[in-house]
Amino acid sequence: MATVSDSYIEVYGTSRSESCLSSKDQLYVKKIRNGTVIDHIEPGHALDVLHILGINGKLGEVVSAVMNVESKRYGRKDIVKIDDRELNPQEVDKIALIAPKATINIVREYEVTSKKRVQLPQTIRGIIRCNNPSCVVNAGEPVTSEFKVEVFEPLRIRCHYCGRIMGKDDVLKQF
Ligand code: CTP
Ligand code: ZN
Repeated sequence: MATVSDSYIEVYGTSRSESCLSSKDQLYVKKIRNGTVIDHIEPGHALDVLHILGINGKLGEVVSAVMNVESKRYGRKDIVKIDDRELNPQEVDKIALIAPKATINIVREYEVTSKKRVQLPQTIRGIIRCNNPSCVVNAGEPVTSEFKVEVFEPLRIRCHYCGRIMGKDDVLKQF
């Protein structure tokens, strides 16, 4: 992997299609050499994705976030490109909670070597907490949180222990 020598976050909001940008504009969405492209993120959620991944630019990560560009499939989308980083399964599951149509592209030497759509499991264990203070998972016992996904979009999950229903906004508050 190439060495990251500088820290910057490019944030680019536009109503134009990514493929229609002029050569000058392409500076902001240039192809990456190695790393991960998270594509087809629900418009407006690129910064949430960065937040979930713990990326704030202070560790020297080279990251580009493109917001509200036209998507061939879904109207509008956000894109996040992270140089020199591949995601772990827990990170992918967290992204699936807030961006269920996202695709994770692994790029090596400029080529997309793997393209996977995120897939939220029916049962989510451990990555989010129940927001009911009286729930057994919040009682200090060694109990792993567990939610059943009732509806994928808009997200609706139910705590296995107390039945509390949570949505995307409740989940976002935790990240
Ligand atoms: N990409 C990149 N750097 C590369 C290769 C690809 O930043 N070296 C980005 C592209 O800009 C695109 C995403 O990775 O946002 C996926 O690339 P690709 O599979 O080539 O694009 P599409 O075929 O349009 O993808 P999809 O079918 O998933 O929409
Ligand atoms: Zn609960």
